[in-house]
Amino acid sequence: MSVKQPPRLEVQNLTRAFEGRRVVDDVSFAIEAGQVACLLGPSGCGKSTTLRIVAGVDMQDAGRILVDGQLICDTQFRIPPERRAIGLMFQDFALFPHLPVAENVAFGLTGGWRANRTRVAELLDRVKMSPHLESYPHELSGGEQQRVALARALAPRPRVLLMDEPFSGLDERLRDGIRDETLALLKDEGTAVLLVTHEPHEAMRMADLILLMRDGRIVQQGAPYNLYNAPVDRQAAAFFSDVNVLTARVEGALTGTPFGQFLAPGVPDGSEVDIVIRPQHLKIDFDRAGQGPAPTAENGTAARARVVRARYLGRESLIEFATMEGGIGLNATVPGVFLPPPGTPMWLMLRRDRCFVFPRR
Ligand SMILES: Nc1ncnc2c1ncn2[C@@H]1O[C@H](COP(=O)(O)OP(=O)(O)OP(=O)(O)O)[C@@H](O)[C@H]1O
Ligand SMILES: [Mg+2]
Repeated sequence: MSVKQPPRLEVQNLTRAFEGRRVVDDVSFAIEAGQVACLLGPSGCGKSTTLRIVAGVDMQDAGRILVDGQLICDTQFRIPPERRAIGLMFQDFALFPHLPVAENVAFGLTGGWRANRTRVAELLDRVKMSPHLESYPHELSGGEQQRVALARALAPRPRVLLMDEPFSGLDERLRDGIRDETLALLKDEGTAVLLVTHEPHEAMRMADLILLMRDGRIVQQGAPYNLYNAPVDRQAAAFFSDVNVLTARVEGALTGTPFGQFLAPGVPDGSEVDIVIRPQHLKIDFDRAGQGPAPTAENGTAARARVVRARYLGRESLIEFATMEGGIGLNATVPGVFLPPPGTPMWLMLRRDRCFVFPRR
């Protein structure tokens, strides 16, 4: 009989209030060894506070934290930060300016650089910083310093690594490359990672598990695919891309729109729903003397619309439409160059499997 391993990091019902306001509100999640979880949410939603509590530099008002099933801290008991086997890498990952790269990396290791040559060399090789072993931090670029900071955080083989916006100080063009290299190293080390970011793109690129946070609460958690394709509400959908929203009234669990009827199960008659769809999931067809495509199960009914404006964005074109019935504004993106002049009549369809229907709040 196999016994299930406890998660590497488990956070249970964490709550923290400042001046009576709960900035972390009943937060729970679990991360397995080798998994990268991204705590994602807008500025001020409580991400860093959550991380600081896990690190042990702040205290919760309620809730527990466990590492490998072992209690690290609750409101009575508390293992000090330096004995938690939790590594930290924060936004201002200041390296020690008076120490060369090798000694910076060896800083958290007993016996320092001399006693840990192999580990230091292995990590510096992984982050492609071997030639800079003896350099001082001020001699390195921002990206190079960031790679040394990563090696330093991983050197003591932490059971959990906490990263707070670690890439935000870097040049945009460097970022994706460093993110990918970092991810590969984290996967090889097999540590559990909790990474804070307010960038959906970063979370989608890095995470096995996204914890979507809003006003101190985790509103949805799951794989990037699930958050993108099955958002819990309109705001969750809008966090990952621009969205179109059609508002419609419900009668008999159905709601009528220029694009045909949509199911709105469980929504009371007379109340409104938001139908949410991303711009890349609109389908466009040409107008043939006022005639458009026939309705299909996949795309519903087509609605006639006029082009308001079309712009070329490089990888894709963005076309703004207004439906002829009701003048509903909708944005569509299509790959490549497609720039119909303003006023052009066209037909729009909504991919039904990509429409989300939410009760209006
Ligand atoms: N020590 C403190 N005293 C009072 N309020 C605090 C304290 N620390 C954080 N806060 C408040 O708690 C809220 C959450 O802060 P936190 O730093 O966790 O946000 P965040 O999600 O990390 O935001 P950002 O993306 O901007 O870094 C903010 O409104 C902040 O002002
Ligand atoms: Mg923060």
